[in-house]
Amino acid sequence: MPEQKSAVKTPESLRSHRWLGPDDLRSFGHRSRMKQMGFAAEDWAGKPVIAILNTWSDMATCHTHFKQRVEEIKRGVWQAGGFPVEIPVMSLSESFMKPSAMFYRNFLAMETEEMLRCHPVDGAVLMGGCDKTTPAMLMGAISMNLPAIYFPCGPMLRGNWNGTTLGSGTDAWKYWAERCAGNLGDCEWRGIEDGIARSPGHCMTMGTASTMTAIAETLGMTLGGASSIPAVLSGHSRMASESGRRIVEMVWEDLKPSDVLSAGSFENAITADMAIGGSTNAIIHLIAMAGRAGFKLPLTTFDAISQRTPVIANIRPSGEYLMEDFHDAGGLRALLNRIRHLLHVDCKTISGNTLGQQIDDAKVFNDKVILPLDQPLSKAGATFVLHGNLAPDGCVIKPTAAEQRLLQHTGPAVVFKTYADLKARIDSEALNITADSVIVLQSAGPVGAPGFPEWGMLPIPKKLLKQGVRDMIRISDARMSGTSYGACVLHVSPESAIGGPIALVRDGDLIELDVTGRRIHLHVSEAELARRRAEWKPPEERFGRGYGKLFCAETTQAHEGCDFKFLHAGKATREPDIY
Ligand code: FES
Repeated sequence: MPEQKSAVKTPESLRSHRWLGPDDLRSFGHRSRMKQMGFAAEDWAGKPVIAILNTWSDMATCHTHFKQRVEEIKRGVWQAGGFPVEIPVMSLSESFMKPSAMFYRNFLAMETEEMLRCHPVDGAVLMGGCDKTTPAMLMGAISMNLPAIYFPCGPMLRGNWNGTTLGSGTDAWKYWAERCAGNLGDCEWRGIEDGIARSPGHCMTMGTASTMTAIAETLGMTLGGASSIPAVLSGHSRMASESGRRIVEMVWEDLKPSDVLSAGSFENAITADMAIGGSTNAIIHLIAMAGRAGFKLPLTTFDAISQRTPVIANIRPSGEYLMEDFHDAGGLRALLNRIRHLLHVDCKTISGNTLGQQIDDAKVFNDKVILPLDQPLSKAGATFVLHGNLAPDGCVIKPTAAEQRLLQHTGPAVVFKTYADLKARIDSEALNITADSVIVLQSAGPVGAPGFPEWGMLPIPKKLLKQGVRDMIRISDARMSGTSYGACVLHVSPESAIGGPIALVRDGDLIELDVTGRRIHLHVSEAELARRRAEWKPPEERFGRGYGKLFCAETTQAHEGCDFKFLHAGKATREPDIY
């Protein structure tokens, strides 16, 4: 065992020793199977076994460099005197998984927890980055509570089309609107397709992936500076081997997620989310992660922190630049140092330092990308939480990504019962809709869709696009991609599929949105709503068996984080018996 200044663990007290140490028949079997793989006792005996959970797959487009990175993490583990084992876990491909990668977030969370529990491992490096992989792996690791480091895959390089910078997601929506308006031909459209995602790494706008990896770093669950390094830089490889070295030390120190995470670190994470103008999806994931750690995060906490936090990351979709620029401007450490007066700097991190120590020497190198405090994108309010008779348990809007004139608006509803209904009718010339209408989509929530997909940036009808309309009020019980934008009211809770008031809205009903007043109101009398509620019938059960049935039975609503009820923090799970 290499000398560790702050060692708490001994080789005999390692968790893996229960599998590999005793002189009994079962351990003989485990050791002989290690030898079957070509390892000698010198490779593992008395060393921390480090699980490297790898979300690589041929369908995980953002993680294509993980085959190389996993070797670099292993190199670090070996260097520090550990024994690395790579364990593949479910990849959550945001691009390809249907109905939505969110449907499977809790599945990966369970897999993360149980793969760590059932194997002889002492600590873990969690390799993720594409949207849901970050919350999923952290949720599982928090519940398992072994020493763990999150290793973010890093953002992809800037996109490019004929010299024009492209941001993933954000520019796809933007140029699609131009194509629908008849302004972009086939050639141009193919050029954008070629250039919008041109390297490994997660979406390089401030979408859900960039937001969640920044949150992981602010929570103290990555090494300092890990979240913003572009995926293809050599610095990303060095961060991989450093993560490998550090996790071995963490095992000897017995530094677990429960030692790092606190009410303060979750408040820090919300503050960072607001300062970077992060994705609205972060709210759902933070509530779920905090729930695993035993902390409650009501929606009002997000609104309160949002009101005191300036948005200073000038990154698309709210701003102008991309993650590569953010990294070159100093990255998350520099941004956090700039808002350190808003942070609990005494919170711990997995590096062994406090967050304050971790960001002490970080400087901003480009004030156009990480804005000065007196010149923010917006003084406060990256995310507003609204309540009202349409959303008794709340809903959210990202005002910085919307046309400001719409933040105070009353208009008649145009209701679509499902996404299929919307797709069939939205571009019909006969649709009775104007720029002042409020588009409402039902059946798009956790149970209704199912899986709480990112449908919330509802399309603007082609006939209005042609008139030059680019933003409208759109309301749904869905989520929205962090790369999306517009006056989209999201996460309406409770959702329509379980009888939330959004299920009762009908064409022509007036809906009032008062973002400053945090209010959303359906101008229909209580008596009429009661009449409609009595007529309402729940949708037919979609799943007769399988994971979908489990999901629909166990998911909580948006304001509760959509974790499964049986996975919330509770009585500690016993270690497996070894007989
Ligand atoms: Fe992976 Fe956007 S598709 S982060």
